[in-house]
Amino acid sequence: MAKKIAVDPLMDKLVSLCKRRGFVFQSSEIYGGLGSCWDYGPLGVELKNNIKRSWWEAMTHRRDDIEGLDAAILMHPQVWITSGHVEGFTDPLVDCKKCKHRFRADQIDGKTCPDCGGELTEPRMFNLMFKTFMGPVEEESAVVYMRPETAQGIYVNFLNVLQPSRQKVPFGIAQIGKAFRNEITPGNFIFRTREFEQMEMQFFVHPSEDQKWFDYWKEQRWNWYLEIGIRPEKLRWHEHEKAELAHYAKAAYDIEYEFSFGWKEIEGIHNRTDFDLSRHTKATGKDLSYFDQERNEKYIPYIIETSAGADRSTLVTLVDAYAEEEVKGENRVVLRLSPKIAPIKAAVFPLVKKDGMPEVADKIYHELKRHFKVFYDDGGAVGRRYRRMDEAGTPYCITVDGQTLQDETVTVRDRDTMEQTRNKIGELVGIIGAKVK
Ligand code: GAP
Repeated sequence: MAKKIAVDPLMDKLVSLCKRRGFVFQSSEIYGGLGSCWDYGPLGVELKNNIKRSWWEAMTHRRDDIEGLDAAILMHPQVWITSGHVEGFTDPLVDCKKCKHRFRADQIDGKTCPDCGGELTEPRMFNLMFKTFMGPVEEESAVVYMRPETAQGIYVNFLNVLQPSRQKVPFGIAQIGKAFRNEITPGNFIFRTREFEQMEMQFFVHPSEDQKWFDYWKEQRWNWYLEIGIRPEKLRWHEHEKAELAHYAKAAYDIEYEFSFGWKEIEGIHNRTDFDLSRHTKATGKDLSYFDQERNEKYIPYIIETSAGADRSTLVTLVDAYAEEEVKGENRVVLRLSPKIAPIKAAVFPLVKKDGMPEVADKIYHELKRHFKVFYDDGGAVGRRYRRMDEAGTPYCITVDGQTLQDETVTVRDRDTMEQTRNKIGELVGIIGAKVK
């Protein structure tokens, strides 16, 4: 029996737009694809990079109290025993005895298969970490794990970062990098995949100040989604109940977004206490405590973690920006991405391919290119070129026309209002630059 595929018209349209415009493609597509793995195309990589850059600037450059790090994906296998992942990073799995489909027991109700009504097996625990082998011999002693979170790379480098940076608690370490989880039920496009990117920050605080910093980081992280243009009415908090808490957390709040497939987590803010640093201290004999000179006190800092997904944030920006509207009897699809994260900031068009217009447009294109990502297009009717840029989320389209040759002005068309203003060529960098930076 074929697996039931839920119909989600909005997601279907978005997946198709992403392929058509070069945002996201299925991995290994010409081989039939690989389950839940996706590749970012020319526009997708720009969008995702802009999102990561925005996060990095907000979390490191704009502050004095957070340092950056880029740790290796492969770590000593003992790390994952110490962290609790070998034992505890598991999902309960059930199989249907009839159709053989596999489900996460905590995600389905009842005892019968949601696909065919068949009987289910008893749940068994399934570890989500991918394993591989280091070196030429594939034996148990050569097993290493693909990290399921970037956080551990930060904890094991706590002292390495603390010493040269001369930071004092409270301070944080931020990192963006790939993580891997052998998810039982991946899906919803790039929402849940087996290979993904995390943007994580671990903030080290005095144990008595954990609540204060937890509240502080909740507010900061919420505001970041507004900064990248997400509509606040589509966001909400979800507090984890005791049973939901990850093995390391004392308290956790998720920021959720209202997708067409329901309210779903996009970021977690966790109070991990001294769980990780204490466990690593115990396992290695390396003292990861901190001597606080102001308090004249030695302690293992508590950690407030903010953990976001770069792919999920990318999906949120796409979903939130997607709009269809009727313009003069025609259907227009537009991505209302914030100009700050839009992959292409402006497109330059000669109205027609003659009368010296391409030469002027080309000159403008090369001038703007020195400041931000621009795109040159002289193919087809100008209306069609506008539509293509609407679908790419490009906030401004600049058109060189007959008047340009007379007075050195061009039209600047706004993606959202579709209004056009005339501006001097020499003012374009300033006008557009102010809106996209
Ligand atoms: N270090 C803590 C941690 O990893 P998590 O709640 O398991 O916490 C944090 O993951 C974030 O990572 C999620 O909110 C989500 O944005 C992203 N993420 C987790 N699993 C993912 C997956 N399979 N695919 C895409 N993103 C994922």
